[in-house]
Formats: sequence, structure tokens, C-alpha cells
Amino acid sequence: MKLNHKNIIPFDKFMADMLYNTKKGYYIKSNPFGKNGDFITSPNISIMFSEMIAIWCLSFLKNQNLQKKISIIELGAGNGEMIFQIISIFKKLGIKAKFFIIEKSNHLIKIQKKKLSSYGVKWLKSVSEVITKNNIFLANELFDALPVKQFIKKDNFWFEICVKEDINGKFSFTKIKKNISEIEKKFKINLSKNQNFIEFSTESYNLISKISKKINNSNSCLLIIDYGATKEKMVNSVQAIYNHNHINIFDKPYLSDISYCPNFSLLKKIIENNNLFVNGISTQKEFLERLGIKTRAEILSQNASFTAKANIYYRLKRLIDDKYMGHLFKVMFVTKNKSSFNLGFNND
Ligand SMILES: C[S@@+](CC[C@H](N)C(=O)[O-])C[C@H]1O[C@@H](n2cnc3c(N)ncnc32)[C@H](O)[C@@H]1O
Repeated sequence: MKLNHKNIIPFDKFMADMLYNTKKGYYIKSNPFGKNGDFITSPNISIMFSEMIAIWCLSFLKNQNLQKKISIIELGAGNGEMIFQIISIFKKLGIKAKFFIIEKSNHLIKIQKKKLSSYGVKWLKSVSEVITKNNIFLANELFDALPVKQFIKKDNFWFEICVKEDINGKFSFTKIKKNISEIEKKFKINLSKNQNFIEFSTESYNLISKISKKINNSNSCLLIIDYGATKEKMVNSVQAIYNHNHINIFDKPYLSDISYCPNFSLLKKIIENNNLFVNGISTQKEFLERLGIKTRAEILSQNASFTAKANIYYRLKRLIDDKYMGHLFKVMFVTKNKSSFNLGFNND
């Protein structure tokens, strides 16, 4: 990005360029997933994760007593591993469904198409193109990868965190005074109450607005799994990961994964603003355990060699242990109205 050392851009614009610039963007030109990439996501840690998501979708389907076909729509499918496993399970059980992917990166679409060529998956350009009625939207680690705006309060004034570039092409942070009530009015949301720092993704807001138009009957829902803070007080959570290590945001332009930790209290507000209902929020540990992931690990390790068994339990630990993804990751279940279905959530 050339900022011409006079221009200053808001942080979300910088993040969007770093991740999704049509020529150089991080997600546009590379496959960052797995051991040889920069990070590893749950579906790529163990198939047990996708198996639990498949069981959850099947249980939702059964609970809704659906005679008509359900559509599974994955938003931001990465290397396609999760939907690949879900399709395999539906096939094994003889359950018919339609499968769709909505993916921003053409490079990742190519990888997904290679993996899923013989499974009848369709790719849609945007949520607006969804025409099916009974939709389960799945979003694993999507919202953390959407560009986020940051604001900081100093001496009772709000400032937007921005990025500038010096004559040597080096980026640094700067801030510009901002009337926060303008953005609050525009999105009809109170962002600043009791806050000294705000992280707000207008792209997430717009995406949820589009999804809400497609969750207009009781047979549709959205399942969000993501890094998530549940405390109302927001903090600066933006990070850059390169080769599985945290680095400075500006150290490897276009080469590091820049993400943030969505605040689930704010996400809930955004969802409710869009006339949807949050049925439950669990930690990833609670959700996967309630779905039976430990029993699945036991079954998989029966008759397995010692090394294979150790591998299964090591991967299980990464998914559910509090020190790894168990507590940090949250799962949110969204429907049009309050649902009697609560598998994975404690709705007592
Ligand atoms: C962190 S990756 C997660 C990938 C996958 N869900 C997983 O768990 O392995 C984020 C994904 O969302 C995609 N993405 C980002 N913005 C998007 C958008 N607005 N619509 C659809 N996909 C998007 C990225 O290209 C990438 O595939």
C-alpha cells in the first residue's frame, strides 16, 4: 500500500489491504493453514471438531423436523476442511443437504474447489445470493479475520486509531479525533458507554445484516465459533501471527495474519440490532464436550497404536483445554426467535 506519506488511513482500511488486497493480500495469495502455514484452525487440528459440528447440524435438522432439504452454508471456508468432513458424515448417514461456500479469497476458492470437486458444493459471491429457505450458516474463525475499527478515549475525547507511512515506507500508528456519536447513530448502537477503548467492525455489522435477511424462518440459524472475549469492557486485541509466532503488526506487511478477538457482548448487541436472537454462548470446551467429543476420542483410540492414541488425545487437548482453545474460543447460536433446541448450550 502506498500512503504517499501524507495520507492517513483508519486501521480497518489498513487491515483490509494487508489481508485482502487483490494482488498482495495475505489471504489472496497464500494458504496460511496448517503446519507449513502461519496458524492452524480447529478443523485442521482434528476431524473430531468438524464431526461435532456435523452432529450439531444433524441434531438441529432433526429438532426442526425438517422434511425439506437443509442448506449448509459455510462463510470463509479456508482450505475447505470443515465442510469436507461435514459432507462426508452427511453422505455416510444418507442425509441429503445442499452445501454452499461464501469465500472472499479467489486463491482459497481454487484450493476449496480442488478438494471438493466431486461433492456438489456451490460457491456464492455473497450472502445476498442465498435463495434457499432453510439455512445453517457456519462461521468458524471468520469474524476475527474481518477488518476492525479501533477507537481510544483520551481526556474525554474519542480518537480513531489510524496508520501512516513515512518516506521510507515504514508504517506506524497515529490517531485522529472522532465524533463517536456519528458512528453510533449510523449503526444505531451504543459503543462508547463504559468504554475507554472500542473495537468495532463495520464489515461484521454489514455481514450480520445480510445474514439476518436469510434467517427469516425458524428453520435457519447461524453458528459462530471464534476467538471471543465475553467481558463488556473492550481492549486492544489486534495481533499479527507469522509462522506460528506473534510479531509486530507492521513487521511483515502482507505476510502476517492480522486478526482480532471479537467481543461477544458487542456481537450479541449487533445481532439483536438486526432482529435476531442469541440462543446461547458457550466456550468451545463446553460446546464440544456437550456434543460428546471425549467419547468420540475414546472410540477413535480403541484398537489404535500407542502413538496414534497419544496423537488423538494431544489434538483433543488443543481443542478443549483451557490453556489452548477451550476457553479462548466461544460458540454462539443465533436464530430468528428463541429456539427450544439447545444442544451444546446451557439454556437452563
Ligand atoms: C481465519 S480463516 C478461517 C478459515 C476456516 N473457517 C477455518 O476454520 O479453517 C478466515 C477465512 O474467512 C475468509 N473471509 C474473510 N472475509 C470474508 C468475507 N467477507 N466473506 C467470506 N469469506 C471471508 C478468508 O479468506 C478465510 O478463508
